[in-house]
Amino acid sequence: MSEKNILTKLNKFNRREFLKTTAVSGLAFGASLTLPSWQVFAQNSSLHINRLAIPQQEKGRQEAGVKIFDLEIQDGETEFFEGIKTKTRGVNGSLLGPTLRMNNGDIVRLNVKNSIGETTTMHWHGIHLPAKYDGGPHQPIKSGEIWSPQFEIMQKAANYWYHPHLMGKTADHVWQGIAGMIIVDDEESKALSLPSEYGVDDIPLVLQDRRFERDGSMEYRPTRHDIMSGMIGDVALANGTISAYFEASTNLVRLRLLNGANASIYNLGFSDNRNFLQISTDGSMLEKPYETNSIILSPGERAEIIVDVSDKKTITLENKITSTSGSMGGGNLDFKFLEIRPADNLNTLPSIPNQLTKIDWIDESEATNTRTFMMSMQMGPMMMLGLGKSHTINGKSMKMDRIDEVVKLDTTEIWEVSNDSMLAHPFHIHLVQFQIISRNGKQPHAGERGLKDTVLIHPGETVRFIAKFETYADKKYPYMYHCHILEHEDAGMMGQFLVV
Ligand code: C2O
Ligand code: CU
Ligand code: CU
Repeated sequence: MSEKNILTKLNKFNRREFLKTTAVSGLAFGASLTLPSWQVFAQNSSLHINRLAIPQQEKGRQEAGVKIFDLEIQDGETEFFEGIKTKTRGVNGSLLGPTLRMNNGDIVRLNVKNSIGETTTMHWHGIHLPAKYDGGPHQPIKSGEIWSPQFEIMQKAANYWYHPHLMGKTADHVWQGIAGMIIVDDEESKALSLPSEYGVDDIPLVLQDRRFERDGSMEYRPTRHDIMSGMIGDVALANGTISAYFEASTNLVRLRLLNGANASIYNLGFSDNRNFLQISTDGSMLEKPYETNSIILSPGERAEIIVDVSDKKTITLENKITSTSGSMGGGNLDFKFLEIRPADNLNTLPSIPNQLTKIDWIDESEATNTRTFMMSMQMGPMMMLGLGKSHTINGKSMKMDRIDEVVKLDTTEIWEVSNDSMLAHPFHIHLVQFQIISRNGKQPHAGERGLKDTVLIHPGETVRFIAKFETYADKKYPYMYHCHILEHEDAGMMGQFLVV
């Protein structure tokens, strides 16, 4: 069957199913039930019928030594399913946002206009910047206003991202589609011979999952259970595309993976379990490529991988179900993110270098302070009724007017984060990139030996990491640390620290 035939067939199937189910829904079911046919269509069918969307790449405009980016957060509609318009939100478009491309050392100004009719914020995840420009809960942008933070990029080459971070509303705003990637290049990364033609052999991939309702809408309506365990969808999206495929024209393909989900922890690999190379973590390249056949990415985490498709087999990037999937929200769902179809004639790219970067490893003896954090979920009946604090760090749930930790400028600290709940939690800290020292006393594996700003803490685990707090003292504005399962963050699993 030709691609066009499959397409027409599926669309017909879809429309018919849609009419059938909507006709029934008014009679027998509540409006908030999910539509089984979407699930059948998008998951059980391994047909990949939509060309992967590649976000526009924005390099900014130069004005008096400043690189300026204009971003407008807006309402829109997206046609996930042929003929069905779904209300979504995006940045400079109807869903997700452009990939912002910056260089280490750039002075950037981001003009963020809020056109969604309600207050939101814009946070620069993983970026080292002054607290008042962080875009967290203390920098609300009112509807109709423009917020223009300006700062210097001081990062190693890697992938970062931006998303709203309004107190209690982060999950909702991200779910609706407000998020985008930031790629930072530096002198070192530019000199490496890696696939680097954006959208051709160097592909940004925002991985998410969403739940669609009977009428095709994907409004944010979490149940109490969703708030406890995180809002998990049943349909996989790559750059906002459902059932996506990508035609590879080169023997090596570089994928810049971002877990942009609200709550799902993905264990990513290819349908034939082939090996690939992981070349970066959240905030840096790995010193050397790490060969593996799976990579766990929890919400907020990023990693770049290189996959070799010279055998010209069609493969699918998917969520692999493992024995620990139970404690990982979304970990046991069969998400198929992207089918990669190699062309008949593939251009051959140079092989991947053995040395990618050099990381300045911080010695534990440099730390002058150790802080401990316990991530907890209280599951008692009072909590299930929503009476009381259910998601806490060190027994406290987030309060805007309470500073939890004060870090001295120009110090190095060890943070020891534990999890006594039954679910895994990705712990994220603003401002700094850290280095993992150990997981339950053991060295982190090779894929985690890069700079990080988010780290998954499994039930019963203690992760120790070390970071330098070298700049940006501010007595007034705090930075956040929190669980990056957005429902948990909104439910209070977040704290604030000052650098003074
Ligand atoms: Cu990606 Cu505090 O967030
Ligand atoms: Cu962040
Ligand atoms: Cu959590």
